[in-house]
Parts: sequence; C-alpha cells; structure tokens
Amino acid sequence: MHEDVLRVLLSEEEIAQKVKELGRRISEDYRGRVPLVVSVLKGSVIFVSDLIRAMDVNTEIDFMVVSSFAGGVVSSGVVRIIKDIDIPIENRDVLIVEDILDSGLTLEYITGILKDRNPASIRIATLLDKPCRRKSGVKADYVGFVIPDEFVIGYGLDYVERYRNIPYIGVLKPSVYSAEDAEALEKQKDN
Ligand code: IMP
Ligand code: MG
Repeated sequence: MHEDVLRVLLSEEEIAQKVKELGRRISEDYRGRVPLVVSVLKGSVIFVSDLIRAMDVNTEIDFMVVSSFAGGVVSSGVVRIIKDIDIPIENRDVLIVEDILDSGLTLEYITGILKDRNPASIRIATLLDKPCRRKSGVKADYVGFVIPDEFVIGYGLDYVERYRNIPYIGVLKPSVYSAEDAEALEKQKDN
C-alpha cells in the first residue's frame, strides 16, 4: 500500500468488476444508438478508459477540462471551463463521465452548458458518489459506489495532482493535507 494511504476503500478487483457491470448496463440502455461520451478531465481519465472498453455499443469520445478545486480538498464552487468539447452535440445522446460527484456544483455547471446545445439526451455516469456533501440537485444516472465523506485518491483521483496513478481507491492520510485544507474540510463537515 502507498505510504500516504490510510486505508484502501475500493480494491482494484472491486473497481474492475463494478466498471464491467456499469459498461453492460450502459450498453443495454444505449443499444442501437451511438452515445457521445464526454469525459471530464482529469479525474475521470482512468475510469472512462476502462468504462468505454466495457461498453459494446459504438461510441464517440470527447474531453472537457474543468477546474473546480483551487488545488486542495474542498470544492470552491467556482467552476471554470479550461477546455471545451470539440464535437457538436445537437441531437446527440451525451453521456457525461465523472470520477466523483461531491458537492455536485461541477456537474450542475457542465450539464447546464451542454443542455443549452440541444442534445437528444444527457445522462451522467460517476464512479463515486458522496451524497452527504451535495449542494445541488444533480443526480447521476449511473453510480459505481456510494462512499462516505472522506477524501479519496487513486484510480484518477488526485490531491494536488498526485496519486492519480494508484490503481485502487484509498483514503488519504490526513497528515498529508496542508493545515489549510484540513481546516477547510472540517468547516465543510459542520455545514
Ligand atoms: P464537486 O463540484 O464538489 O461535485 O466536485 C467534483 C470534483 O471534485 C471531482 O471531479 C473531483 O475532481 C473533486 N473531488 C471531490 N471529492 C474528491 C475526493 O474525495 N478526492 C479527490 N477529488 C475529489
Ligand atoms: Mg476532478
């Protein structure tokens, strides 16, 4: 186990099994159609690459880069588009793929923008869901795992850009956070 990981929350095997299951469900739901998978970078990079290989319908993929964290552990609520998708989505079936649904502010912002472009449908697939931290009404159509209110890393998820390459999902040791981030997390829990 990585020295900065407090405990493993989801093993490689558990994740692989869940991703296969999600791929099967999504394929059934989109049978005969060609969904446009919109991967929200960077966190979803590992998940989306496994997920599309678990899908057996024709798909197209595009990428959106947004930033909602100032770099630390608590969502600022201010979302910025750094890179938009290139493919037009009018009359397309769009499947947004995210690593984690936390406050929901990022996905609320992204779905709002994409809806304005008149897609045929928009659905959301997220590997992880932290429902207790929700600050928006956004709901995912496909959820891998509902997890407790802990800061997790690995399988694409980072803390200040590190740990994305850890193959499992683990809880980050609080001793690794900056004092500022620890305080911000505590404050959020009280709200
Ligand atoms: P939201 O806007 O609060 O839903 O934040 C979504 C984004 O915050 C995700 O795409 C992640 O990049 C990041 N995030 C939220 N919780 C965690 C976590 O526990 N570990 C790593 N990143 C997280
Ligand atoms: Mg992210």
